[in-house]
Amino acid sequence: MKELLKQIKTEALFEIEQATTIGALEAVRVGYFGKKGRLTEVMGQMRHLDPAERPAFGQAVNTIKVAIEAAWTARKQNLEEAILIATLQKEQLDVTLPGLHLYQGSIHPLNQVIEEVEDLFLGMGYTVEEGPEVELDLFNFEMMNIAKDHPARDMQDSFYIDDKTLLRTQTSPVQARAMLKMKGEPLKIICPGKVYRKDDDDPSHSHQFMQIEGLVIDRDITLAHLKDTLLTMVRHLFGPEREIRLRPSYFPFTEPSMEVDVLMQKQDGTTEYIEILGAGMVHPEVLRMGGYDPQVYRGFAFGVGVERIALLKYHIDDIRHFYTNDIRFLRQFKEGVSS
Ligand code: DAH
Repeated sequence: MKELLKQIKTEALFEIEQATTIGALEAVRVGYFGKKGRLTEVMGQMRHLDPAERPAFGQAVNTIKVAIEAAWTARKQNLEEAILIATLQKEQLDVTLPGLHLYQGSIHPLNQVIEEVEDLFLGMGYTVEEGPEVELDLFNFEMMNIAKDHPARDMQDSFYIDDKTLLRTQTSPVQARAMLKMKGEPLKIICPGKVYRKDDDDPSHSHQFMQIEGLVIDRDITLAHLKDTLLTMVRHLFGPEREIRLRPSYFPFTEPSMEVDVLMQKQDGTTEYIEILGAGMVHPEVLRMGGYDPQVYRGFAFGVGVERIALLKYHIDDIRHFYTNDIRFLRQFKEGVSS
């Protein structure tokens, strides 16, 4: 019996040593300690022994059992550690590899222009006003001195909702709203917003575009104030050396009226004047309708096209780029990009 126990021990330790997977090790355990395991069977033999021999035999079996179990547990820990190390090595992260490039959003070029203009005028004491895009004919045309049968309406052939309402064709109606709100007090406002017009199908026009309106009313306002304000705005947008040219023009709501051109450099190095806005001294009739005595008050006004500024500033050739939201286009307008 002793011999048999010794042999079992040797074999068990050998098998434990040979097991290279947790599964194999488990099989060894079952082979010795399971229901039909070899040690279990040997224990079963005990009842055939002389009762006097039983305690010594039981002790001997137990010693072997403890030795095998200890070897088994140690081997299991060993294998588990080896598996862990192998996994860690396989799944190792190389923290020195470059990370993924995540793009940050950027402000839309049209909003960049609006923000730049707002920044400047807020600094000069103006307030920013807004008006509705679905506007009354009264504000969009009549209070801008464009009566029902006025031919100037044709230039802005419009999207009407009913007889009295339309999608505003210009930001000028905000002038009328601001004047009524101020009840005859001096005012300095700018008003950015969308406007709508039937327009020619060419790459520099769209049926919907943006304008920024400006209006100043006070007692001693002159054309010199207007000219200096426009020059300041143009230089803020295009650089400190930029020159402008005022050209006589016609708008029903200003007298005199002018169009303002900015001197731009062409690709071939020569320069040309390009129109960017309309402006003028507020027409006495517009002042009167807005609640100001034209004998006491005077004002200047201007309306600048946001897309036009952005096209020139960023050298873009097609206005539709602003509206199609092609991410490759938009990504070029990180903060600080300018002409
Ligand atoms: N509303 C004009 C347009 O859409 C632009 C304009 C011209 C606005 C002269 C003004 C102005 O305030 O004084 O073409």
